[in-house]
Amino acid sequence: MSFKESIDYSNLPKHVAVIMDGNGRWAKQKGKNRAFGHHNGVLSVREATEAAAELGIKFLTLYAFSTENWNRPKFEVDILMKLLVNTINKETKTLNKNNIRLLAIGNIDSLPDNCKKELQEAIKNTSNNTRMTLVLALSYSSKWEIINAVKLIAADVHKNKININEINQDMFSEYLTTKDIPDPELLIRTSGEFRISNFLLWQIAYSELYFTPKFWPDFRKEDLYEAIVNYQSRERRFGKTSEQIKQK
Ligand code: FPP
Repeated sequence: MSFKESIDYSNLPKHVAVIMDGNGRWAKQKGKNRAFGHHNGVLSVREATEAAAELGIKFLTLYAFSTENWNRPKFEVDILMKLLVNTINKETKTLNKNNIRLLAIGNIDSLPDNCKKELQEAIKNTSNNTRMTLVLALSYSSKWEIINAVKLIAADVHKNKININEINQDMFSEYLTTKDIPDPELLIRTSGEFRISNFLLWQIAYSELYFTPKFWPDFRKEDLYEAIVNYQSRERRFGKTSEQIKQK
């Protein structure tokens, strides 16, 4: 039986975030180079996107390139950037056909010009789509994002646009690159690592975490269904007691 049959559609997460990990190890296991792993990772990006849209998930965020990934050997960074440009360019039509909007979070200004241009065009060309939003985290790290928000808030205080006493959690969220995106209810990490790696630290305060040993290039629709069924088996208490939750 497929996990899909066990999904409760009245209790779907609105936002699923994924740390796509294990491309390099997957390739190494097969005696291939890391680029081979990244290329195959794109197939999993397609699978996860299709599966999420078909289920009716509204936001899917994929951690495609971290701030720390800039420290990888230059040829690998170049391969990843090229792959991004080519994939975005090739997939925009499919996104439009499937009514999927593209967004990006992170330090987009730090991307190479051609990558930035391709990304901005795809974001513009898909901006009216309403079925699902695919969010790519690019040159993203949470610590960068939080510091960036602090700087923007400080500047607005300095300009008397806001008052220090007005700063609260909701306002802080408005200064993050995720400002129009709800917090993820479910965070998935592949490849058997139990780490968050500087991803959405503020936004995952109450997310359910799901770890799978599968390497990202092996991730298929069924793996997303399994993660969702597992998520639906959890009791989300948000600091309350189990009895309080059941009284609702
Ligand atoms: C992690 O595997 C993967 C990445 C750093 C890049 C993810 C990129 C893609 C799947 C392709 C492009 C994506 C899009 C959205 C077009 P790793 O290299 O850290 O693997 P390892 O931990 O086994 O070395």
